[in-house]
Amino acid sequence: MKIALATTGGDAPGMNAAIRSVVRLATEMGHQVYGIRRGYCGLIERDWWAMGPRDVSGIVNQGGTILRTLRCPYVETEEGLSKACEALSNFDALIVIGGDGSIRGGWALHERCGIKVVAVPASIDNDIAGTDTTIGFDTAVNTAVEAIDKIRDTATSHERVFVVEVMGRARGFLAVSVALAAGAEMVLIPEHPFTLSEIESSLDEGEKKGKSSSIIVMAEGAGYAPSLVERLARDRNYSVRLSVLGYMQRGGNPTATSRLLGALFGEEALRAAQDDREQAWLVASVDGKLVHRPLVDALKPKDGPDMRMFDLVSRLAV
Ligand code: F6P
Repeated sequence: MKIALATTGGDAPGMNAAIRSVVRLATEMGHQVYGIRRGYCGLIERDWWAMGPRDVSGIVNQGGTILRTLRCPYVETEEGLSKACEALSNFDALIVIGGDGSIRGGWALHERCGIKVVAVPASIDNDIAGTDTTIGFDTAVNTAVEAIDKIRDTATSHERVFVVEVMGRARGFLAVSVALAAGAEMVLIPEHPFTLSEIESSLDEGEKKGKSSSIIVMAEGAGYAPSLVERLARDRNYSVRLSVLGYMQRGGNPTATSRLLGALFGEEALRAAQDDREQAWLVASVDGKLVHRPLVDALKPKDGPDMRMFDLVSRLAV
């Protein structure tokens, strides 16, 4: 098979481990992988090269993606789809590593050009339906927790309330895991609406119990963090600071968990590419097992974050 391989959308640590796995295992099986530069836009521009095992040397520990990446809404337009289909006529299958934009694009290409598509979920947001986890999520959780551990030192010394904004786009998966692992006092997520007075009474209660500082982890999709900070400072006279962790959460060396997922998802992607029961697959981790399942399963919104974990954040912050 001639396999086109691309990373698209936001990068996620562990993507390189998945690229390495696909290239080396495909070569072992007698397939040829072509690395597409800059996602779907690079495909349309026919910017690719034949990859061999040496092209992926020394990358297993690197964050980012050696294929580079781009968000490319153009691929979902009429013109973009038809150009991408022409380019894809050079290949037998497309393996795309990325988040929900990559999956939507992959599905559109499969529907339009009938090409075999295998999507490998990689996103720090962990917001892909059909899989329990995504490449990069574990690394981003660890990066944010490490940052909050440092913030806690200064929060304690200055007896301050810190609002720490984490990524996650419109979902709260990252925020919940980060908050629980960092021992935050509160977590604010889009899936669980909150009022200002609820936040204030929870801070007041903490104060009564002897807490002199608090960490509130806020998902970026849960509201506008600067105005929350302003209201808390104005209404209650708390000493409040905002720390937006931002793009540092997308970088850095992947954790062992993200690398393992890259290696294993890469192998499963090739299994899926050789499985002719369907022409569009999602590689997934379900209840600890690696599987491939119809890509259509990934098109619906994922169920909300684990409410047991969400509740534990406040129950453990007594
Ligand atoms: O999907 C990954 C992510 O980092 C989200 O958490 C964030 O909202 C978004 O990408 C930022 O996208 P961009 O790189 O286009 O600014």
